[in-house]
Amino acid sequence: MITDVTYLPESPAHDVEIEHINEEAFGPGRFVRAAYKIREGGPHERALSFVALHDAAVIASVRMTRVAAGKGTGLLLGPLAVRPAFKNLGIGRKLVRLAVQASEQAAMPLILLVGDEPYYGPLGFRRVPRGHLTMPRPVDPARILAIEIVPGSLSDFQGDVQHADRFTISGTATACI
Ligand SMILES: CC(C)(COP(=O)(O)OP(=O)(O)OC[C@H]1O[C@@H](n2cnc3c(N)ncnc32)[C@H](O)[C@@H]1OP(=O)(O)O)[C@@H](O)C(=O)NCCC(=O)NCCS
Repeated sequence: MITDVTYLPESPAHDVEIEHINEEAFGPGRFVRAAYKIREGGPHERALSFVALHDAAVIASVRMTRVAAGKGTGLLLGPLAVRPAFKNLGIGRKLVRLAVQASEQAAMPLILLVGDEPYYGPLGFRRVPRGHLTMPRPVDPARILAIEIVPGSLSDFQGDVQHADRFTISGTATACI
């Protein structure tokens, strides 16, 4: 672990640097990912999203977005990205832990993500049963992971995953929380 890294909740002042970090990490392919499609539905939660700073520059970012599925609500974690020069220093894991902790404090029921189980498993994320959730674009089911902050909350969180602002009841767009 390096010590001169500061972790802060995200602010609008970080937006440009975060965009560069995500471009560097994921390239133009990020725009066709299922998680990106969900995030297009509305804003992310700045208070639950975090950046890592080194020498006043943003070197890593994790964003959290409110989502809904069936009768359930939760958060979608991502993108998570660390600048190449700062990889493998524990920064990604620290950002995930901060986001999970903030989500717990905000009494969110669960956190969903699309990512690598070997990385997120040790951080508490478990594979969502195949067919339980439907993403707006094709996703390897083995990469749909979740952590239940409220035990059992995944049972209500079922079906099509959308941005919470896009959640529809009887076909009428409405904010659900
Ligand atoms: C994946 C990423 C966020 C990890 O952040 P990081 O700060 O470099 O990682 P950490 O220091 O927290 O953890 C490092 C450990 O995770 C492992 N790891 C990194 N990426 C991994 C992956 N995709 N799958 C499994 N393990 C992974 C490393 O091998 C290392 O293992 P070790 O502790 O046994 O040596 C970073 O590499 C990154 O930005 N990658 C490009 C974007 C990306 O893939 N984001 C994740 C989207 S799901």
